[in-house]
Order: sequence, then C-alpha cells, then structure tokens
Amino acid sequence: MVHLLSKQTAMLTAKPPPSCSVFLFIIVLCILGFYTLHYPHSTPSSSTLRNALRFHQNFLSSATNYTMAAYLRALTLHPHLAGTKPSLETIHYVETHFKDLGLDTHTVQYKTLLSYPVHASVSAHFSDGRYVELPLIELPDQAAQGVVQPYHAYSPSGSAYAKAVFVNYGRDEDYRRLGVLGVKVTGCVVIARKGGLPRSAVVQRAEANGALAVLLYTEGDKFRKGFERGTVMTGMGDPLSPGWAGVDGGESLDLEDSEVLKRFPKIPSMPLSAEAAEIILGSLGDAQVPPEWRNTLRSKVDHVGPGPTMVNFTYEGERKLATIHNVFAVIRGLEEPDRYVLLGNHRDAWTYGAVDPNSGTAALLDIARRFSLMMHLGWSPRRTIILCSWDAEEFGMIGSTEWVEQNLVNLGSKAVAYLNVDCAVQGPGFFPGATPQLDNLLFEVTKKVKDPDSEALTLYQKWTATNPDVSIQRLGRTDSDFAPFVQHAGVPSIDIYYGRDFPVYHTAFDSYEWMTKYGDPLFQRHVAVAGVWGLLALHLADDSILPFNYLSYADQLKEGYKDLSNNLLDGTVTLHPLVTSIQEFAFAAKGAEMEAKKLREQETVSDLITLKKRALNDRLMLAERGFLDADGLPGKKWFKHLVYGPPSDHESKLQMFPGICDAFLLARRMSERRGQAAIQHEIWRVARAIQRAASVLGGELP
Ligand SMILES: *[C@@H]1O[C@H](CO)[C@@H](O)[C@H](O)[C@H]1NC(C)=O
Ligand SMILES: *[C@@H]1O[C@H](CO)[C@@H](O)[C@H](O)[C@H]1NC(C)=O
Repeated sequence: MVHLLSKQTAMLTAKPPPSCSVFLFIIVLCILGFYTLHYPHSTPSSSTLRNALRFHQNFLSSATNYTMAAYLRALTLHPHLAGTKPSLETIHYVETHFKDLGLDTHTVQYKTLLSYPVHASVSAHFSDGRYVELPLIELPDQAAQGVVQPYHAYSPSGSAYAKAVFVNYGRDEDYRRLGVLGVKVTGCVVIARKGGLPRSAVVQRAEANGALAVLLYTEGDKFRKGFERGTVMTGMGDPLSPGWAGVDGGESLDLEDSEVLKRFPKIPSMPLSAEAAEIILGSLGDAQVPPEWRNTLRSKVDHVGPGPTMVNFTYEGERKLATIHNVFAVIRGLEEPDRYVLLGNHRDAWTYGAVDPNSGTAALLDIARRFSLMMHLGWSPRRTIILCSWDAEEFGMIGSTEWVEQNLVNLGSKAVAYLNVDCAVQGPGFFPGATPQLDNLLFEVTKKVKDPDSEALTLYQKWTATNPDVSIQRLGRTDSDFAPFVQHAGVPSIDIYYGRDFPVYHTAFDSYEWMTKYGDPLFQRHVAVAGVWGLLALHLADDSILPFNYLSYADQLKEGYKDLSNNLLDGTVTLHPLVTSIQEFAFAAKGAEMEAKKLREQETVSDLITLKKRALNDRLMLAERGFLDADGLPGKKWFKHLVYGPPSDHESKLQMFPGICDAFLLARRMSERRGQAAIQHEIWRVARAIQRAASVLGGELP
C-alpha cells in the first residue's frame, strides 16, 4: 500500500510529454494571472509564521511544575495494570481531562489476550538439607494495595525442581563460555542477570540450551527487594490478531494456533530480586565463576554450579481476553486537517507507574492543557494534532500496535510524524532517539527550552556540554510505542526521555514517592520534557514546510555502510548496490533541502505556492515509507522497515540493517556459497529500499 502511495506522489510530479506541458504551462499562467489580479493582498506567510511563533512562545511560558505534579499524583494513586479494574480509573481520568479542556475526545477499544499470575513459589534447597522459601513480595501490604505479584507475562505455567546454574546475562557468548568450563545447563534452572538481552531473548536462549526454567534477577544496590516484572512474549501487539486489529467481534486466532504459540516461550520464568538471587548464587559449587562475571550482586559469587543447590520453582498463570482502551484527543488542523502529528504515551503500568509511564502521561496532559489555552487565545494548528494515550504497552505494545494495524493506510498516507514519550523522567540528563530526518528539529527545539538542572543554560547547551559527541539513539528497538509507527508503518518518529536506567523499573517502588525523592523532586525535568515534546509537535504541525532534513539520514546510512564494510571479511559479497543507492539518496536529500530553503524564503502566497509546498511536504513525509518492504525482515515479516528494526543477533555490532545482520547469523549455518548468496540478497533488498526512499524524496519517476 505504502508502496503505491509513494509511486502516486512520484507520478504527480513527473514530467508530462512536451506538447501537454506547454498547454499546462499556459493554464498555470492564466491561473497565476487571475490570482495576482484578484487576490493581491492575501495574508503573507511571514505574518502567519510570526503568529504561530507568538503562540509557540505562549506554549513555553504557560509551563508549570505544579500541574504536572498534580497529574502524576492522581495517576499513581493505585496500581493500574492493563485489563484490570483499577486501570479504568486512569482511563477515565485522562478522558475527563481532555474533555474538560474542550478537546475532541474519543476512546478506541480492543479485545486482546493479556496474561496474569495466579500463584508462584521459589525455594532454595541446600546441600546440607536446609531449605528456604524465597520472599516474593516487595511491600508488606502489597496484595491489599493491589500490586500484582512479580511475574513474567505470557510465561507458561509449570514447575521445576532442579540444580541451579548461573549463566551471567544469558547471551550466546555466556553459554559458549560455560561450554568451555564444561558446564551444561540441560535439565537445570537457569539464573540470569538482566542487562545484556531483552527478557524474551534470555528465555529463548535458556530454552534452546535445554534449561527447565529461568529466574531473571535485576542487580541494584538501593532497591534490592525489587522484582522487575515484564513480558516474555516475542513480536508486537495482540497475539490473537497478528497483523490486523483485535477489534471485538473481529477475526481472532485460536489459542492453540501455531502462529499464537510461537510468540510464547515454552519454559516458565519469573523475575527475582537481587536479595533473592543472592541466596541461590552464594551457595553454588562446581565450576569457578569467570572473572568478568564476578561484578554482580553484593555477596561473593564464586561458582556457577550446576548445584549443589536445588531450586524448586512453580508458576501458575492465566492468559485471558481483556478489553483495552486507547484514549485520543484531536485538535483539528485549520489548513491541512488531513495531515497528522501524533503525540503518544502509554498509560498502563506494572504497578504505580510513576516513572513508567505516567511521568510521560503527566507531560501529555499538561501539553493538552497548554494547547487548549492557546486555542482559547485564537490558535489553531495548520495540521491536525492527535494526543494518544495507549493501553497495554507493557504486554507488548498492544494498544498502539492494534491501532497502527487498524489505520495502516490512513497513517501511511497522512501521518507526518509520531512523537513518543514513555518513561519521561527517570533522573538527570537528556536522552533522545529519532529517525534521522528529525535530528535537526531536535537540536533547534532544545535550544529553546530551559535546562531543568542548571540556572542559565538551555537544554541544548547542557546536553551538548555533557555529551560532546551528541548521541541520538535510533529507533530499531521494540521496547516502546514508537516501534509500530517506525517499523511497521514507516512514520518518522522521535522518542525522548530524561534520565536512564532508573533502579525501580517495573517494581512496586516505581511510585510517586520515588519520583519526589529521587526522580524529579521539583518537577522541573517534567517541565523540560513537556517543553521539548510540545514544541516539537508545534513545529511539525505549524511550519509551512515540514522541518525535516534528510541530509542527516544520508549521513546515518553512510555510517551504517561503514560499519558493514568493517565487518565484511571476504570479497565475494559486494556492498556496491548500497553505495550507489546511498549516493542517490544523498543527492535527493540535497535537492529537497534546496527546494525547502527556496520555498521557506518565498514571501508571497498563492495557490500555486501552497500546492508546491504541499507537494514537497508530501515527499518529505513519505520518503521514510520507502524503507518499508512488503516482505519485511527475514522470518519476521511484520517488521517492514529494512533500515531500523530488531536484529535476531543481539550481539551484532551493526546498529542498522537488521536483515543483513540476521543474514550473517543464518549464513553461519549454511554452505559458504549459499550463505554468501543470502547475505548478498539482503544487501540488494536494503539497496532497493534506499532507492525507493530516494526516488520519493527526489519526486521523479526513475
Ligand atoms: C515444590 O514446591 C511445590 C509448590 O510449593 C510443592 O508442592 C512441592 O512439594 C515442592 N517440591 C519439593 C521437592 O520440595
Ligand atoms: C516547582 O518549582 C519551584 C521552583 O523550582 C519549587 O520551589 C516548587 O517546590 C516546585 N513545585 C513542585 C510541586 O515541585
């Protein structure tokens, strides 16, 4: 679909045959003449721009930390896990907030498969016959407060009574290391520390190595009682409606369908606290711990096992259909209502969710308050702004994924950008991510926002001073709601947060109290995030030429090419197709940048110029879709983006082109000739994707 759309844009701007073009030219002259005669004094663009800038100033000056603190307090009064009754309160809170501001509000529901714990127990049985029941609660009155017990969503029910073995981060290289030590994990309960791999990948590797169960602990000094809940399902969205929206009454796969089952691990797992892990790890025998694995936990871990300590682990969970709710507020664009700028944050939380995700929700609600204020002062955006409050992100980006799947063609043809904020405030420091055409806008906007932690600096000054080689992350990860927008729909996106690696992640300690004590005592970091987020949206919604710069994308592609060529060892595979396509892309990016500059300088307003701007904007908006491929990544066809996406090989040093990464991995298991051919094929596919993006951006049919 997206393919077709890009072609249409290209055709609109393609040159018609000469005789026809002379004719068209005369018509255009006539129209131009008519307009200059009859509408000589239409509003000059510079004054509309000044107006918009005045409102943007208004946006910044109407910030308060008090409102944000109040929203966060209200959202975090109770735990609000997706699909549970208390989560309805937060849905209602967000809906009411939008409605009371006079915003056009609606809610979209889906029926999706969620997963909850019923019972779990872990005990350690020592060689001397003693045993201890490990504590699985974080707060004394946890159940009464409605905090869900620690668990991994979608873990199968099961039990294991077996020797424990320490596998470090549970990566392939860790199992290879164990192999060298002569340690096998077959028939054991694996104890792994979190940090090297996504949760589901840790379980997959343990399963592949023959383990019976996995206990995954988080290290940490301050919150040693914390258990990191999380999903172990692979892939994105509702497992019963892969690739389409899980609307009530719509098609839903059977629970036993192989498409459904392949999303879940086959062995049970659950999180452990640092304190609980220590009890097991401190008592292992057999092989010595490799020196570089020692830096874990407080007590000494000397041996990796297996045993002699045995672990008795039982887990019982249930998977059930639950209704989830995405809440939207729509601010209709005045001039281009059919172009969308989306701001999204999820609302559901494992527990109280003060950082994850409601620091972001508080910022979203404050942006809504300030936009509504601006509307009362007479502002309307040029393009439509949509505020999105997603549900069930924690289970696998379900709310956002279902909605993107449901609206794929509308988003593909009309979405200008998606701006995501998940754990808005975790501590100090600014950590943005973006698809590269938005880098420049990110720099410009942070120059206008005050740094929350220093007196006289802008956020940009502080950010660039503390990170001399300013790093902007790329969006190939699948851990937040930008993933379906970038990786399934090809929508240019940004993801921003303040602070990183907060110690109470997914635990019962992620509370309002933690935020006021550690995360953001004065709520000024909340103000900074809302400032950047809202201002990004305002530029994307109001600037007459979209603030995209594809030169930065071209640079990133060149970097990706360099990484690849450094990792290619032999000569039978050629990167030449990539070189050519990246050159074409860079050329188109330069051309688009020059056109944009000219049109920005255009003082007069006419229908022709408006159309020209719209045509250029369409190319800027749609170029990202060129990277999509109908067949998607090898073996993961939902992931359509061939430049940014999750590689299967988590140890790969390549940051881009996940399909090429995976081809390297697969090639190891093939004959040399077939392996090389598979890699070469992926290189060609990426080259063609870059060419598609280049021709959309250039606007000409090749
Ligand atoms: C393991 O734990 C389960 C559940 O608590 C219990 O029923 C079972 O008897 C235990 N097995 C052993 C060998 O202790
Ligand atoms: C808001 O910021 C001011 C100035 O930094 C501070 O005095 C006040 O306590 C903050 N309010 C809240 C609710 O954090």
